[in-house]
Amino acid sequence: MKIAFIGSECYPFVKTGGLGDVMYALPRALKREGDEVRVILPLYQCIPAKYKENLVWKGSFMMDLTMEGRTFFVGIMETVLDGVTYDFIDNKEFFDWGNPYTGLWEDIPKYCYFSKASLAILNYMEWIPDVIHCHDWQAALVPLYLRTRFWGTPIEKAKTVLTIHNLRFQGICSIDHLKYWSGLPDGLFDYPVLKQNENESNMFKGGLAYADRITTVSATYAREIQTPDYGEGLDAHLRYHSGKLSGIVNGIDVDLWNSDTDQLLAARYNEENVLQKKALNKRALQQSLGLEEDEGKMVLGLVSRLTDQKGLDLVDAVLPQLIDGRTQVVVLGTGDPRYENAFRYYEGQFPGSVCAYISYNEGLAHQIYAGSDALLVPSLFEPCGLTQLIAMRYGAVPIVRETGGLKDTVMPYNAEENSGNGFTFNWYDSGLLLQAITSARSLYFEDRARWDEMVRRNMRKDVSWEQSAAQYEDLYRTLVR
Ligand code: ADP
Ligand code: GLC
Repeated sequence: MKIAFIGSECYPFVKTGGLGDVMYALPRALKREGDEVRVILPLYQCIPAKYKENLVWKGSFMMDLTMEGRTFFVGIMETVLDGVTYDFIDNKEFFDWGNPYTGLWEDIPKYCYFSKASLAILNYMEWIPDVIHCHDWQAALVPLYLRTRFWGTPIEKAKTVLTIHNLRFQGICSIDHLKYWSGLPDGLFDYPVLKQNENESNMFKGGLAYADRITTVSATYAREIQTPDYGEGLDAHLRYHSGKLSGIVNGIDVDLWNSDTDQLLAARYNEENVLQKKALNKRALQQSLGLEEDEGKMVLGLVSRLTDQKGLDLVDAVLPQLIDGRTQVVVLGTGDPRYENAFRYYEGQFPGSVCAYISYNEGLAHQIYAGSDALLVPSLFEPCGLTQLIAMRYGAVPIVRETGGLKDTVMPYNAEENSGNGFTFNWYDSGLLLQAITSARSLYFEDRARWDEMVRRNMRKDVSWEQSAAQYEDLYRTLVR
């Protein structure tokens, strides 16, 4: 099959979170299955020069956008990486600022342009996919443009899948703003489609109504978003469309995340030698972050965007109680100043035991997964979550809240059966997080053999894309038939 991916970020060009990982890994997995895949992205200014230098010009044209039919330049720059074609849309007016996001007011015109231009370049290149796979609100207008402004053009025969990676962000703005910039027909600005309330419109809502299929990134999140607690105001809309909604859990790229070949680690390792080598990685991590160097300490890692989604209020509430002379905490993340400052404060309070590395750093992320004994992911909600998957693959035991993809991927440790992958808790409550961490610490300090078995079990667990890519293919096939 021919599949076009449309989304706002993609590793290694631009990544702020898991969407970037998925846009990288899933096309590669589909390519391995024999599909032809193109990924369409904005040519942001923040894409590193080493990638921009290798882009090849594929053509350009003018495209109309807005209610007034203003015309805008569309350039196509292309590169091929490991058999996947990446087409970047070049337009300096929209993409020359932001890293990659700016603020909703500017991002709405940016992604109206991007969604429409993505379809326009497919027609221009005469590459008509069987399925257009759109990701999150930034690409949510694609199904609407396809069924209106592009009706009667070659691309009309393509089917659409819209994947919800995070329902928190929907692209909501005044009806006038979206009407003006999208140039979409007035008829779409009604309650079943784009209308959110009297004054506002919602891009995600419209896309969900018009997409041929909706997916989200775990079965549990697919159920959760149909309830008021997790639906972010769209639960009724999603229940209405539940017939075309399903959950397919994410994997990770097991070549990119491979502790046996990872050049960023102090010591590479596999399931056989993980115990000695993790100790070396731990020491290297402690040294580079200014923590007390002692491999006997239990290191708890946290690699995350610092937002309330990630359950950081719970971590904030329990952190002082974790510092007991034999436990260290390493936080890597950036985001909400509230959390950045809280973690900086703890670093000052507990020198040598807590490190708050407030930044985005790919290399350090790898070193934390390799050097930590356990990884905290106590999220308030988590559509899938990738850090717990990476942690398992790197032999760090996840401690997670049972929500969304965390629930689907981390089976709780069961002492009787000596089974499971990590420590879990259900209600969003700091006492329960503390209990889960305490259980983890007990096993780590008092029954190391069992702990080590879990580390090895986790490293053997299949967290690759293989099975999920096959499920996407099945889904695409139901549309193409
Ligand atoms: P989300 O997409 O909600 O941020 P995921 O768990 O799906 O959460 O994906 C997060 C991805 O971003 C992982 O690959 C993780 O390693 C990476 N990541 C998050 N914060 C940082 C950071 N500060 N530095 C480096 N990588 C980070
Ligand atoms: C989102 C979600 C995260 C998911 C990622 C990739 O950013 O917050 O849970 O893993 O998308 O699908």
